[in-house]
Amino acid sequence: MSGRLANKKVLLLGAGSVGDGIGNGRAMAILFAREGAEIVGVDLNRGAAEETARLVREEGRDMVVLSGDVTDPADLARIIDAAEKALGRIDILVNNVGGSIPGGPEEITGEQWDAQFRFNVDYVHHSTRILAPRMAKQGGGAIVNISSIAGVRHLGHDLAAYAASKAALQQYTKVASVRYAPQNVRMNTVIPGLMFTPLVTVRLAAQQAGGDAEALIAKRHSKPPMGRMGDAWDVAYAALYLASDEAKYVTGAEIMVDGGLSNSVR
Ligand SMILES: NC(=O)c1ccc[n+]([C@@H]2O[C@H](COP(=O)([O-])OP(=O)(O)OC[C@H]3O[C@@H](n4cnc5c(N)ncnc54)[C@H](O)[C@@H]3O)[C@@H](O)[C@H]2O)c1
Repeated sequence: MSGRLANKKVLLLGAGSVGDGIGNGRAMAILFAREGAEIVGVDLNRGAAEETARLVREEGRDMVVLSGDVTDPADLARIIDAAEKALGRIDILVNNVGGSIPGGPEEITGEQWDAQFRFNVDYVHHSTRILAPRMAKQGGGAIVNISSIAGVRHLGHDLAAYAASKAALQQYTKVASVRYAPQNVRMNTVIPGLMFTPLVTVRLAAQQAGGDAEALIAKRHSKPPMGRMGDAWDVAYAALYLASDEAKYVTGAEIMVDGGLSNSVR
């Protein structure tokens, strides 16, 4: 352990994984714990977060698990208070919950549109408005938001509501970072590209490839200029930097973790 997050107290929203293996939230929990953080990991699916806690314990560390729905503002407030009670204070907040519903302007219903915004950006506003002032009172803190390359460019298939809600998340992070900069509360965004996480086989194969996971995996590997998808560790290492004091002068920034895809025409 090199202690890049020694003595840091972390609230990680979305600490489980949609399937077996290592998703972004799970990788962040393991890596942050390895670097010395004390973590409360939250998930709608308690079993998924318990599995993350088991992997954290394999690192010789611990993670407190809370279950709840971050998209319900009352439940989110309860979760934050419970996490603060468990940890004593919160230095780092990671907003990792999110995901996509496919469809373009004609397919996405009003209900789906609203649901995508609740899932990808509204709860980030609610967690920020509760925790940023508390971090400011403590002398500082760090908020790391997990966006998507869909918020930056079209990916070859329609994701109108996901793209719009992730773009909103990115701009929200930038403008809110200005508000809290004088109080040393830093807000930054990681923008993953096409990552090979359990999400690809569990959800995206059905949504985008009629259940043909192999075909979808091959297609996703072929798109980034680096010739392959990234993985959850790539996301976690970028988040680790932004969460740590190594990034003490970095706020309102975005780290693109996409193997060059955002700069390519593919
Ligand atoms: N995997 C990729 O290719 C990829 C690419 C770009 C961006 N992202 C972004 O990464 C983030 C998640 O990545 P992941 O690999 O951890 O995904 P994941 O779906 O495996 O894990 C997210 C966790 O959040 C939990 N969750 C869902 N709704 C919740 C709610 N309302 N309250 C509390 N918990 C809830 C799920 O149960 C799950 O365990 C998302 O914001 C997603 O948009 C992923």
